[in-house]
Amino acid sequence: MYGTVSTTRVDQARRVAQLVLADLPERWQHSAGVAERAEELAGTLGEDPDVLVAAAWLHDIGYADSIRETGFHPLDGARYLDDHGWPPRISALVAHHSGACFVAEARNLQEALRAFDREESPLADALTYADQTVGPGGRRMLVQQRISDMLRRHGPRSPNAAAHRLRGPYLLAVAHRVESRVAAACV
Ligand SMILES: [Fe+2]
Repeated sequence: MYGTVSTTRVDQARRVAQLVLADLPERWQHSAGVAERAEELAGTLGEDPDVLVAAAWLHDIGYADSIRETGFHPLDGARYLDDHGWPPRISALVAHHSGACFVAEARNLQEALRAFDREESPLADALTYADQTVGPGGRRMLVQQRISDMLRRHGPRSPNAAAHRLRGPYLLAVAHRVESRVAAACV
């Protein structure tokens, strides 16, 4: 199913997401869409495809009531994965996906997030890009549409809105990098 992707870790990740997001069908559909997008990118970007696709399945598990602790889903998901023996790289990718560090500042959780290493790599970019091109319910979106939709859903007083001045340009820069890599790989 996943081509060159190792299915064992990816299947484990999918099963965890399916279990903990059972009561959140839109979030589950979004996660499945992000995993599918990540799988497409993994084929182009090459390195460690199973890490990318597993992290994509797991990136939003922190929304689940059974995992929620601080209410900041990247941190809660990463802590759960850390506590359950997942590789530190996957926990850290989940902790820092989609510019979480900017929102952590707005929530005063930056110290807690620093417990996880922030990876800066084509793979980390691909995870963020996959998340930022798939909306709620799993529909594909442009990054700019996704950002606008996210700000509308979270509202003007939200930590996401407070973080937007720095996070918005960061997400657009990630999108530019990924699209350039994909274009270069297709030549
Ligand atoms: Fe997401």
